[in-house]
Amino acid sequence: MSKDIYEIGEIPPVGEVPSKMYAQLIRPERFGDPEKAFQIEEVPVPEIGPEDALVLVMAAGINYNNVWAARGVPIDVTKVHGKLGEPDDFHIGGSDASGIVYAAGDKVTNVKVGDRVVVHCGQWDSDDPAAKRDPMFGNSFRIWGYESNWGSFAQFTKVQAHQCMPKAPQLTWEAAAAPTLVGATAYRMLHGWPPHTVTEGDVVLVWGGAGGLGSMAIQIVVAAGGKPVAVVSNEEKGEFCKRLGAVGYINRKEFDHWGMPPHWESKGFNAWLEGPKKFGKKFWEVLGEKRSPRLVFEHPGEDTIPTSVFMCDTGGMVVICAGTTGYSAVADLRYLWMRQKRLQGSHFANDEQSYAFNDLVLQGKIDPCLARTFAFDEIGVSHQLMADNRHPEGNMAALVGAPSEGFTDL
Ligand SMILES: NC(=O)c1ccc[n+]([C@@H]2O[C@H](COP(=O)([O-])OP(=O)(O)OC[C@H]3O[C@@H](n4cnc5c(N)ncnc54)[C@H](OP(=O)(O)O)[C@@H]3O)[C@@H](O)[C@H]2O)c1
Repeated sequence: MSKDIYEIGEIPPVGEVPSKMYAQLIRPERFGDPEKAFQIEEVPVPEIGPEDALVLVMAAGINYNNVWAARGVPIDVTKVHGKLGEPDDFHIGGSDASGIVYAAGDKVTNVKVGDRVVVHCGQWDSDDPAAKRDPMFGNSFRIWGYESNWGSFAQFTKVQAHQCMPKAPQLTWEAAAAPTLVGATAYRMLHGWPPHTVTEGDVVLVWGGAGGLGSMAIQIVVAAGGKPVAVVSNEEKGEFCKRLGAVGYINRKEFDHWGMPPHWESKGFNAWLEGPKKFGKKFWEVLGEKRSPRLVFEHPGEDTIPTSVFMCDTGGMVVICAGTTGYSAVADLRYLWMRQKRLQGSHFANDEQSYAFNDLVLQGKIDPCLARTFAFDEIGVSHQLMADNRHPEGNMAALVGAPSEGFTDL
């Protein structure tokens, strides 16, 4: 007899959908430290539309976006859900998943019940005019499990069927759940902005090389024949980057010129400029040749952008997808125009780029860098570690349906 709700780790017969599920919920009245903001509650399993799929979540990837969601900063995501036509007073985060398709809408052709999938986090309206060119430029674009509700921190997740991609059978559920959000984002940053796409022999500076984005960026650069140099905050993280294929690393703790530089007219400016110059010399020393990076892979933002713009090669590109340390960035325009550098914003990825990244995973060219796996009830703790920059190198995941670590679907 079918049950109303299954316990965490229990798998309903394939295709059988209970009426209720357990989810890790964020509510506005709990906004604050992730440790406390996430709490397990019982909610109805969501209804799906004609272009959607309902996926039984085996494991969920942990990303920085739900640190922001837990804090309610810079936005209250539940208000965004309302604007998207899903008014709810709670948020189910989770923008990475591996799992099994349990139901598919009438118009779905790319997946069927029983398929083992990973889910990318790009959602958009299929009738958005931008969807035909690049849905990332459309007004309807949103990140599933952040701007939209019903993410992967629950037993079932509601997704648009195009988000479902084949799961690499050689990977465990938790390893498969770990890399897609950061990997597809890094893929668009490094391959999505021609002519500044990474090619054979290109030198690339990767900030936060041991982090989620950085660990994927290093491997994508290596797969394209480029030469990544990582920036990290300690030697262990640096050695981790080298194992992934980085030519070498710079420990940012050896420098102190971070943040907004003094105004260019002030006396302090020239003294400050010694910092980026010293950093540039260190970069050449680590690389073993006097070449500047053609691409700078940026996400810390306010603390590092002045150095990134300074470091970027003539005719090169600084590509940025976040401002973890702050949003007010100073770019010395003299370097931008005289050396014809490009400062390019980038945000997640379209289907083509997500699938291209997933192909690298399927081919075994990308290690998902799963560093730690959490139980379902530790999802808040895993985000707290991330918020405090105390998380391990690479990526993290949490088990949802998968009964224990180490199971593949082979
Ligand atoms: N727009 C998008 O589509 C998109 C997609 C993915 C992520 N993001 C955003 O990108 C950011 C990074 O995500 P992630 O998953 O890579 O996080 P992560 O795993 O925490 O990695 C970030 C890395 O940044 C480095 N870092 C921290 N403070 C720094 C500072 N002051 N200066 C230089 N580096 C610093 C840290 O490395 P060290 O301490 O070793 O230097 C850390 O490992 C987050 O804000 C996230 O929300 C945006």
